[in-house]
Amino acid sequence: VNHENSGVIDFNFVEKINQGAGEGGLLHGGPNQTLQLLFVFTVLKAIMPRSLIEIGTHRANFCYLAKIALPECKITTFGIDPKSAQAVEAVNEKIGTRDIEVVLGNSLETVPLHEGKFDMAWVDGGHDFNTALQDLENCAKKVIPFIMVDDIRMPDVQRALVEFMRIFSEYKIVWMSSDARGTVVLSLGEIEEMTLWNQFTHPFFYSVQKSILFEDPE
Ligand SMILES: C[S@@+](CC[C@H](N)C(=O)[O-])C[C@H]1O[C@@H](n2cnc3c(N)ncnc32)[C@H](O)[C@@H]1O
Repeated sequence: VNHENSGVIDFNFVEKINQGAGEGGLLHGGPNQTLQLLFVFTVLKAIMPRSLIEIGTHRANFCYLAKIALPECKITTFGIDPKSAQAVEAVNEKIGTRDIEVVLGNSLETVPLHEGKFDMAWVDGGHDFNTALQDLENCAKKVIPFIMVDDIRMPDVQRALVEFMRIFSEYKIVWMSSDARGTVVLSLGEIEEMTLWNQFTHPFFYSVQKSILFEDPE
């Protein structure tokens, strides 16, 4: 691991991997982006997964952030855009490990075929109702204890989340971000245990939100 990367996002590097990709990357910037990044970073640090699955690689922004938060974590990321593979390669090189594996293809086909076991998922692929729902279901079938879902303020993704929780009622929402995109964390844990987790993390979320709402011009 290149420890120079620990805790520091190199935005010149982010700009390079995002070149020509338009919006959509977690580190691209946008309304309340700082708030969302701190949320995702805090959740990763609280859960400390040793293995992650990502659906929707784009330009490997999440992979980069996750490897900064969790230098030892192994990541398998499923993307459909061939440029995603180059971005993953660049992040592996930047971090100085080979811990990120990319699987190219339609996640609805590739994820069920993959036999890995994962501690946590980041679901951020196709945002239409059917794809979002099936991506969530494919994670649940792998019995992943924590599933983090991005962009739940998009109506289709929100509907997919509600439908998913109706079918897989063992998953409960334990955290929800308050930024413009909306990130939710689902857990298989007992609600009592999750309440304790919340007591630990909420003061942090609250203080970060307060400082951003009052000091960040966004
Ligand atoms: C919002 S972006 C992901 C951003 C990325 N997760 C991040 O954190 O920076 C969504 C990505 O999902 C990909 N995608 C859409 N449908 C897909 C599918 N069926 N299978 C795999 N990837 C898909 C798109 O190509 C796009 O790059």
